[in-house]
This record gives sequence, structure tokens and C-alpha cells, in this order.
Amino acid sequence: MLNYNKTLPNQLTNWAFSETAFKPLLLGKCESIMSLGNGYMGLRSVTEEPYIGETRNLFVNGTFNKFDENEVTELPNAADVTRFDMLVDGRRFSLETGKVEEYSRTLDLRHAELIRSFVWENEAGKRVRFSFRRFVSLDNTHVIGMKMEVTPLNEGIQFSVGSGINAQLTNTGSQHFHEGEKRIFDKKYMQLEQTTTESKVHFIIHASHRLSLNGESLEIAPKMDIHRRKVALSYTLDIPAGETFTFEKMSTVHTSRDLAFEGQELSVMKEAALAQAKEADRQGYDALFELHKQAWANVWDRYHIEIDSEQEFDKLALRFATYHLVVMTPAHDRRMAIGAKGLSGEGYKGHSFWDTEIFILPFYIYSRPEIARSLLEYRYLGLEGARRKAQENGFKGAMYPWEQAWPTDGEVTPVWGEVDVVTGLQTKIWSGFIEQHITSDVAYAVWHYYKATGDQDFMERYGYEILFDTATFWASRLEWDNAKGRYHINEVIGPDEYKEHVDNNAFTNYMAHFNMELAIQYYNELQSERPEILERLEESLKLQESYTAWTSKINQIYLPQPNEDNIVPQDDTYLTLEQIDLTKYKNQEKVGSLFREYSLDQVNKLQVSKQADIMMLFFLLENKFTPEVKKANYDYYEPKTLHDSSLSLSTHSILAGDFGDSDLAYQLFRKATEIDLGPNMHSSDAGIHSASIGGIWECVVMGFAGLRMLDGKLHLNPSLPQAWKQLKFPIYWQGVHLNVHLTHSDVLITSSSDEPLALTIKGNDVLFHKELHLPL
Ligand code: BGC
Repeated sequence: MLNYNKTLPNQLTNWAFSETAFKPLLLGKCESIMSLGNGYMGLRSVTEEPYIGETRNLFVNGTFNKFDENEVTELPNAADVTRFDMLVDGRRFSLETGKVEEYSRTLDLRHAELIRSFVWENEAGKRVRFSFRRFVSLDNTHVIGMKMEVTPLNEGIQFSVGSGINAQLTNTGSQHFHEGEKRIFDKKYMQLEQTTTESKVHFIIHASHRLSLNGESLEIAPKMDIHRRKVALSYTLDIPAGETFTFEKMSTVHTSRDLAFEGQELSVMKEAALAQAKEADRQGYDALFELHKQAWANVWDRYHIEIDSEQEFDKLALRFATYHLVVMTPAHDRRMAIGAKGLSGEGYKGHSFWDTEIFILPFYIYSRPEIARSLLEYRYLGLEGARRKAQENGFKGAMYPWEQAWPTDGEVTPVWGEVDVVTGLQTKIWSGFIEQHITSDVAYAVWHYYKATGDQDFMERYGYEILFDTATFWASRLEWDNAKGRYHINEVIGPDEYKEHVDNNAFTNYMAHFNMELAIQYYNELQSERPEILERLEESLKLQESYTAWTSKINQIYLPQPNEDNIVPQDDTYLTLEQIDLTKYKNQEKVGSLFREYSLDQVNKLQVSKQADIMMLFFLLENKFTPEVKKANYDYYEPKTLHDSSLSLSTHSILAGDFGDSDLAYQLFRKATEIDLGPNMHSSDAGIHSASIGGIWECVVMGFAGLRMLDGKLHLNPSLPQAWKQLKFPIYWQGVHLNVHLTHSDVLITSSSDEPLALTIKGNDVLFHKELHLPL
């Protein structure tokens, strides 16, 4: 049902994909994977005419609200502007009636435009061509543009269309807004105000229409409606056969979270927003779309990655990933971050997880370091909530929330999840209490960013503080085991969420150790080179006391070692658990099939993993383990890993590449690219998987090109898949812009700097000026 070979005008291939038939039971997939956005807001690509089962979502980044005491804060579903109620000869237009031909709905990635068209024949045999276009502007991030063309082909029709701003929506039942004021100015500009119930964020949404027949502007007196949480205008006209009615709708969205309106009266925002709505209406779809196209042209120039592959899908998949990375990222505001579903669905409530630091941040570190910095500043602002969480749990320092929303909110992980198939009760979600590796994941990301960019200013303002206070958390978290004479970290969930309440999850212990190691190293460096920074932080962080805690404990932290078979135990009990035949779950079509037969409690007692855990450790701290140990563990854990989390495949692909198995690496990469873009029509109902999308970039650049930052040095260890002839990509390294061009036989790197640049290629250190060309 998805066509991946769509050619755009000018013979552009692999820049678009289409849905080729309308299936009312499969609405979610394209709503999500074709969603539009610009980091400021995200709009699910719901059809204009409504259907049962649709999920009409508009999210504005950072506008979190808590519905009531029993729920956690979430990104509220703002008023909808996309719905058109249409009548043809007095009967409701719907693709579920009549006949539909030439149907296609396409996401044009190059221009970030959604295009839907078809010929519809009603029960009376009247044939009408419909075409719809839509964009969420990257040029002016407050603007949504829509355009519909209706052409009766054989007989004239009477056509009615009503559309406005509809705030009668909820987040699956939770209504996050107070009823606000509504108004129509000049019988044209609709305005709806809504304010979130708890966080008191004001939204001002405007919309207006432009009508024309065969390109000539039409003035039709609209019917004006204002109802509860809704304002709309509707028009009725006769369209003769062969003539084209064009209906444009320009909408604008502003909120009191916008930096431009911080500290301003609501009236100021309303006035500015109305002026912008009028200006958008004056310019119209085509003119605004041109500006949007230009903004996207700049995006594609900047993130230009070229894959020469026998498999055309690979090119499309990488563009799809880049597209979504751009639309999900709030590059404009450091108080905001990336949700696990981006802005494409209600899944995970708009919250941010380690997904950002570990799976998405590398893309930004190496392609737009300033955005990586902004995302890390979000975590800096999150220190307040992290410190509160530590205190509430009886610890010191900063304990990052497993799920973070507005930076100061602290922990927002919900407590109850899916059904337990044994008891019929909801399963308790323990992550917010005991999935603690997020704290060292944030510290790791700070270090990764710093080493790859050399951004000293960031470290002095934010980075050291994060590293020190997270290390202090770990020092207070460690538990002394008298019998063993060492520190343990008990009662946690590691990355593999199918093992709850475990002791000494290897990933958690090693990463906590690494976090403390970093703090000690930078403390020592600062003490001899920049003691004034330590002095500044002394008061708030009690650094001397913390330093004593780090240094006195670090060498006694238990770091699980490979056993006689070279296997690093994932935790204290994993290797002792029952093993079952996992074949049918490994071959599952839909993730999570295990839970049709087992409860989470039962799964906890089996050697089965949801996602990469030890493999993730090998990827992040690769220097700490020998190739033999890594391979032995891969062979042990991969068959037990169901990849039920979308975060898993990319890591296993990269690891397979590290072991020299580029075929397997490629197979796993392909599976990762199919999580959202592939043919499974239910995989993305609740939204796209942002970490897996970041993981696609990681597979290409960190996997096949083998780009890594190791001990502060840039490494390339390319191993292209057989299906690829060449790979070209740009990166930033220490402020220098590099273009890397790889084939199976050689590497060409050009540098924007006159300074010599050192890097390690396939284990050999090289130093070059401007250009490096080497056989591989
Ligand atoms: C995964 C986590 C991930 C979260 C959000 C869960 O299913 O197990 O690792 O952070 O989804 O994507």
C-alpha cells in the first residue's frame, strides 16, 4: 500500500513516498509518518474530511500541561485547523461512499509538502477531481498552509465547504484547555484562544480562507458559526463541469511560550498574531510555500548525504530520517527538547528520554553542533528537576528523570501501563523510579559533545556542572556490599526493560563509573588550569565534599567482568534465568508478541531481552572491551534480543559492522529503516520513533562509515555494505567542516580549515591539510 518509487517533477527520485489506496482502518500509519512540522509545532497528516479512527493532532513544542493530579504532564492536543466538512450536491463527501480512482497521498520530503489527489465518483455518477496540498512552514514557523482544488469532470456540482478552528479535541479524553474567547474579524479572520488548565499557556490560533474559480478570486458571503470550543466559516457555490474551485486556508499558531512574547501582556500577543494571520492570508499558499521551499532547500544543502546504492530505498530512508529529525527538533528554543515520538503523535506524551542523548544527539553534534548544544542546555535547565528527584529519593546531586517534559517539572513518567495478561490489571511502569542510567547518559552526551566540538564556553556555563552533579548522584547512590567488599547498584532497570528490579546491571554500573571518572578527570584539570571555575561551583555543588566521595568510591564500584565464556552478565541473575525457544518471537511481525502469552513478571524470569543492553555498553564505551569479548557477547545476547524497542536494531547493526559482518549490519539497518517507513501499516499509529530515526543516521555515519569519537580523537573505520558503491556526507569536527567521500577502495576527505587535521583511519593515525585521499 505504500509506494516507495514515486517520482517528483524534474525526475526527482527517492524524495517522496505515497499511499496508493485509502483504507479507513489503516489511518494511523500515514498520519504519523507523513506528519508535517518545523520543531515549533507538529501536525499529524490527517485527511481533511473526517473519518472514524482518525487522530487529529497539533502539538506545539514545550506547551506541556497536567490534566489532573492523577496524570502526568503531557503535550496538549491544540485546536485543529485541518478539517474540511464538505458536501457535494447536499450529501457529505467521504471516500467511504462512491468510487475512488487515481488515489494517492504523497509526502514530498524535498519540499516538505503533503499532497493528496483522487477522482471521486458519487452515487449519481458525477465525477470530481480533488487535490489537496499542505505544509507547515519552515520559513515562518507559525504558519500552516492548505490548498484544495475541486474540479467536476463530467457534470457541474453544488459544493459546500466549512472549515475553521476546532478545539473540541482532547488527548485521548483528557481536555487540557479552558474554553477561551472566539471571534471572527471582517467575516474572514477567525480567532480562537485557548489556555491550558494547569500550566496556563495561552494559545492564539487564527485561520482565514481565500476562494477562487479558475484563478479568479471569488467573494462568497460565508455562513459564520461560533460554538463551544469552535469557530468556523462555510461557503456554498455551484462549480460548473471542467472548472476548478480553489480553496486556500492559511492558519497561524502562537503561544505564550513563544520567546517573542515572554513577559508580554496577552493583548500584545493577540495583536501581533492577528497581524501575522492577515499577512499570511494576503500572501497566500503559493507565495508562502515558495519561502518554505527555500528554507527546506537550505536544509538539504546542509545535511546533504549521498548514498549510491543498488537499493533505491536506502536513499529514501535516509532522507526520510533527515526530514523527521528536522521537523521534530525545536532548534529555536533551549527550553524544549525532542519527544520520543517527535511531534507526530500522542505516544509517550511528548516526553524526552535517553533517546535524545544517545540516538539523536550524534546527528546534531556532527551536523549542527549549535542545535546539539541547545538540546544539552535543555538538560542543564533540567538540573532543577533532577536535583529535586535526587532529594526526594534520599540521594545527593542530580538524578535525571527517566522522562522529562518542561525542564523544571522533574520526573513525569506515568505509573501505569499496558494490561498484564495474567492478572488483567494494568502493569506498573517502574522506569520513573528505577531506570536510572538516564543520569549517566546525559553526562556521556555532554562529554561526547565537548570532545567533538571543543566548545569550552558550553562546558564553563553548563557542562561541568552537569558532569559534577550527576557524579555526585552516583556516589550517593552506590550501595556498599559488606560480603563482597565493593559498591553495588541494586534494584534498577537497565536499557533492557524486560528485566526489572535487577542488581548490578552492567550498563548502569559501567556508565555510573564512567560518569564519576569524567567528574574526577575534569575536576583535576580545572584545579590546575582554571581553579576559579571550581570556586564558582563550590558553593552550590559542595564540590570538595563531592570530590572526596567520588575519589573514595570509584575504585570499589563493581564492574561485571566477562566470565569463563567471555560473557559479561547483563545483571546479577540474567545468566541464571530460564531459556526458552524464542524463534516465533524473533520472527514476529508485530513487536511485543511475547506479551500475548506472558506477563511482564514472567518475562522478568526468562533470558529474553527487549533491546540492546550490553551491546549499547559496547557501543558507548567501546575502548573498555576487547573485540573477542564483544563478539562472544553479541553471539550470546543477539538471539535473546527481540528488538521490541525500536531503539535496538540500529545498535545491533553498528555492532555487527564492528565485528566485520557488513552483510548482517546491512540487514539490521534495513530492518531499522522499516520501523516507520516500512510496509507494516500499524507500526507508527501513536507516532514515529524518533530514536530509531536518529539510529538510521547513526547506522550510516557511525556504522558503515565507522565514524567515532574515541578518547577525544576522530576515527573512521569504513565498511560499506556490498549494495553501496559510495557514501558522501558532511560533518563538523572541532568547528571544522569536513566532507567525507567513501568507496569500497578509498577515502577522500576535504577540510574547510587551513590548519592540519589529525584523525585515525582504520587504526592508522594520519595528519592532513585541506585534502586527504587514501586507499582503504
Ligand atoms: C524503550 C526505551 C525508550 C522508550 C522511548 C521504550 O520502549 O525501552 O529505551 O527510551 O521506549 O522511546
